[in-house]
Amino acid sequence: MAKIQVAIIGAGPSGLLLSQLLRVHGIESIVLERQTREYVEARIRAGLLEWSTVDLLNEARVGARMMREGLLHDGLELAFEGRRHRIDLKGLTGQRMMVYGQTEIQKDLGDAHEASGSQVVWEAGAIAIHDFQSSRPRVTYTLGGGHHEIDCDFIAGCDGYYGVSRASIPKDMITLHERACPFGWIGILADVPPVATELIYVNHARGFSLCSMRSKARSRYYLQCSLDDEVENWPDERFWDELRVRLPEDCTNSLITGPSIEKSIAPLRSFVAEPMRFGQLFLVGDAAHIVPPTGAKGLNLAAADVRVLCEAIVEYYRRGSKTLLDEYSRRALTRVWKATRFSWWFTTLMHKFSDETFAHRMQLAELDHIAESSAAAMAFAENYVGLDFTRPRVNLSPGSSLQAR
Ligand code: FAD
Ligand code: PHB
Repeated sequence: MAKIQVAIIGAGPSGLLLSQLLRVHGIESIVLERQTREYVEARIRAGLLEWSTVDLLNEARVGARMMREGLLHDGLELAFEGRRHRIDLKGLTGQRMMVYGQTEIQKDLGDAHEASGSQVVWEAGAIAIHDFQSSRPRVTYTLGGGHHEIDCDFIAGCDGYYGVSRASIPKDMITLHERACPFGWIGILADVPPVATELIYVNHARGFSLCSMRSKARSRYYLQCSLDDEVENWPDERFWDELRVRLPEDCTNSLITGPSIEKSIAPLRSFVAEPMRFGQLFLVGDAAHIVPPTGAKGLNLAAADVRVLCEAIVEYYRRGSKTLLDEYSRRALTRVWKATRFSWWFTTLMHKFSDETFAHRMQLAELDHIAESSAAAMAFAENYVGLDFTRPRVNLSPGSSLQAR
């Protein structure tokens, strides 16, 4: 049986980032992923990073390309009733944001792991968690016809919403909170310049739309669509036509369209599992919580969990203290619930839930209030750039001694 300090399930951004950070601190881990590296790197998902996520990627020594190629954003626009209103994120909060695709983060992390020769097992089968409530938990998996067993101190469940980690917890030990949205998003990626230099979130009587980007030459657009919709129902022309209808007129005129290079539909839901720690098993990222993407919080929350868990594990190995391990769930959930609230609120503000005109007038009145009131704009901005409740207790800079902050 192989022995390792930390077994990590899932090689998405949470799993690879946790492993990379632990390695920087001299802690050994193994990452078990059921898909191929190519598959994981091809999934088009998040695009917008809070500065605390940017800092963490740099601390993990995987931020160099992001700092060169990412786009710095100081604001965004809210569009409603054909008007555009800019929220000056930097002016209001002092914080900037970074546009850098999850696919690129995934590649940077994959490259760092390959370069360091760290243990990432791709295409692992039948991953199972054992004895997570004892001090010697184990993980078993199959690979190429062989059966493998790992003995470890900690298991990090970084395997997303559909993973095995949360599913391994007896139902009476976990509380699940969930609210699904009665619609989804269809997203399109195209090699055309973005319609504007900043993101535009659009409230329209026909439904929400979002203009985002991956670079100055690659755009990402989303439209609210029905839950049972299928990509085949949305040939490129239909997508661009519907986007033109929902955008304010001056945007429509400058919209450049082109063939899509990816198109997918995602359901929208809020989901939180409590607690996030079960003995030696810790849930991280989408395995523990999902937010609708409207507030761009999912990946940022995952990174915040990684920071909190890494601090706790580092403190355990350096000082033998279990204090931060015991606090992991509470510290992570404090941030999770606030981001869940913001994401849900912003989703209800921007999307069409019904044909009820009263509901739409309420949305427009609230958007108008945000446009007119600096207090309302500030409340929006500080949530959007990220509420930093997980200020590091310990300095994660490599080589630093662990000082309480
Ligand atoms: P995942 O990315 O789901 O990774 C989990 C990994 O575990 C996967 O590789 C999976 O294959 C693997 N796995 C699953 N089951 C098993 C198993 N049994 N054994 C082994 N491995 C397993 N977030 C933002 O912050 N900003 C945004 O702008 C943003 N935009 C988004 C747009 C869309 C359309 C969507 C859908 C999401 C968006 N998100 C955004 C959310 C973000 O993509 C996720 O929160 C993020 O991927 C979570 O990372 P994770 O590593 O926790 O989980
Ligand atoms: C994206 O670029 O994919 C993106 C940006 C902001 C969001 C959601 C998705 O709120």
